[in-house]
Amino acid sequence: MSVTSLFLASIFAVAAAGPAFQTFVVQESLSGAPAGFAKVAPAAASSSLNLRIALPSNDVAGLEKALLDVSTPSSSNYGNHLSKAEVNAFLAPSDEAVAAVQAWLASHGLVANTSSSAGDWLSVNVPVSKANDMLSANYQTFKHIASGKTYARTLSFSLPTEVADFVDHIHPTTTFNSPLSLSPVLSVPKPVAEVSEEVSSDATAASCATTITPIPLQDPTTAATESSNSIAKFRTNMASSTTFKTQLLDGGKNSQGASTAGVEANLDIQYTVGIATGVPVFFVSVGESFQDGDLEGFLDIVNFLSDEDDVPQVMSTSYGENETDMSKALAFKLCTAYAAFGARGTSVLFASGDGGVEGGQSQTCTKYQAAFPAGCPFLTAVGSVHGTSPETASTFSSGGFSNYWGAPDYQSDAVAAYLKAQGTTNNGLFNVSGRGYPDVAAQGENVQIVSGGTTEGVDGTSCSTPIFASVVALLNDQLIAAGNAPLGFLNPWLYANPSMLNDVTTGSNPGCGAKGFAAKAGWDPVTGLGTPDFTKMKAAAGL
Ligand SMILES: *[C@@H]1O[C@H](CO)[C@@H](O)[C@H](O)[C@H]1NC(C)=O
Ligand SMILES: *[C@@H]1O[C@H](CO)[C@@H](O)[C@H](O)[C@H]1NC(C)=O
Ligand SMILES: *[C@@H]1O[C@H](CO)[C@@H](O)[C@H](O)[C@H]1NC(C)=O
Repeated sequence: MSVTSLFLASIFAVAAAGPAFQTFVVQESLSGAPAGFAKVAPAAASSSLNLRIALPSNDVAGLEKALLDVSTPSSSNYGNHLSKAEVNAFLAPSDEAVAAVQAWLASHGLVANTSSSAGDWLSVNVPVSKANDMLSANYQTFKHIASGKTYARTLSFSLPTEVADFVDHIHPTTTFNSPLSLSPVLSVPKPVAEVSEEVSSDATAASCATTITPIPLQDPTTAATESSNSIAKFRTNMASSTTFKTQLLDGGKNSQGASTAGVEANLDIQYTVGIATGVPVFFVSVGESFQDGDLEGFLDIVNFLSDEDDVPQVMSTSYGENETDMSKALAFKLCTAYAAFGARGTSVLFASGDGGVEGGQSQTCTKYQAAFPAGCPFLTAVGSVHGTSPETASTFSSGGFSNYWGAPDYQSDAVAAYLKAQGTTNNGLFNVSGRGYPDVAAQGENVQIVSGGTTEGVDGTSCSTPIFASVVALLNDQLIAAGNAPLGFLNPWLYANPSMLNDVTTGSNPGCGAKGFAAKAGWDPVTGLGTPDFTKMKAAAGL
């Protein structure tokens, strides 16, 4: 066939197909909003939506393989972390996808901006009326009842056939994330005055038996020396103090007044600056100017950091959601972004959640609920313990098995051993093939913080996460000082060296009207492999 006839044939094909972008395929749909949300009214036609369009990455499997290659201690490439350009080559979308999506947007008079380093996320501002038209959607205003916050969401969205294969997901659409995810709660056991006195009079000697302060946690006392080592801490719209750098995104605030000083931000900073002494900490405050559709800054943060030439070696986040409240496609896209940070040498840590087997927070349930991002296999999920002799699982420590991700190889033996030891307990309440979490744990009850001038105790995996992250930052400091690579994605190293963690074998996380998972010898879905033993971890890191 000649070139001319091919050309004619293709014109004919386009003409025969009729007007472009008119035939829609449903992408995602929900039967209703999740519990806790109420439909208020149709979203105002003229109000603006910032649509985030996720394009499929060229080679997610290749990225995951490269991640494990640089993170598995037995690999000859261990520690040879990838550059931004190398990671972006895996994450980038195909030219064909970009062209198809831009052509579709152009047919609506729109031009999208690229919003991630690799170009796999686009963003475009559109009025609700146009979004309804473009996505065959029905945007409504939903109210999150507990917080009173309102969001524009649609229960379903569709895409024209020409672009359906070139889009992974569009946000905000069907993800109903909770704006109150994982707030630490004030501890009940001790009156504030009593606790303040105990801490101020004898902070260096306080044990971890009843109250937790940074100094005994940082034992043996170790201050960092390397300024190229850093931790990124993430909270939304929270206050910060002056001994660390603050990065504001999307109208994030750096408010310092007592009334705006958040417990969570104070907790995170006091237990990163407090334990990872000398490690530069920067605090990322993400605003709520609807820039990432109120997804707790998750998207803004990964897209902002993905463009940095130097990524922090540790990233600690104490936010989380119910896995079921996240679109699976969006959850996978975010999990891939965490894999990309790991490949570049960042240890990504997330709180496992505070609802025991009920998910991110306590809720009514008949089956165990998984939490996001804890269920993503390319990050380290941190659960909670209390007490010292022995350290015991906190009942609120979220743990269990993801319904979105299967168990990765690095934990398959550890998970199989737990399932065998557990026998028929919990049968039918969880997904036996899912990724098990948390991976590790740290102290998370009656953790003393100073907020608004008062010392108070707080509880939550939000406390445990910055504590574990700080231990990792101190190890990185010594690795960097010795001329070695930072630890990067931790899990293959953790599961290969379980004895460097203090195994927790008492306590459980009951919920959903059932017993929950019991802590047992070895890994368990309430305390993971256990709590950090700095000296043993140092030795395992070759220090
Ligand atoms: C796209 O970029 C332009 C120029 O930087 C900016 O003015 C506009 O607000 C951006 N739009 C979106 C949707 O981010
Ligand atoms: C999870 O779902 C429950 C029940 O709908 C809700 O109360 C809670 O706020 C949700 N989010 C988190 C982070 O737990
Ligand atoms: C159980 O987890 C697997 C991943 O290992 C997933 O493919 C499957 O859909 C999950 N089952 C349910 C009922 O969610």
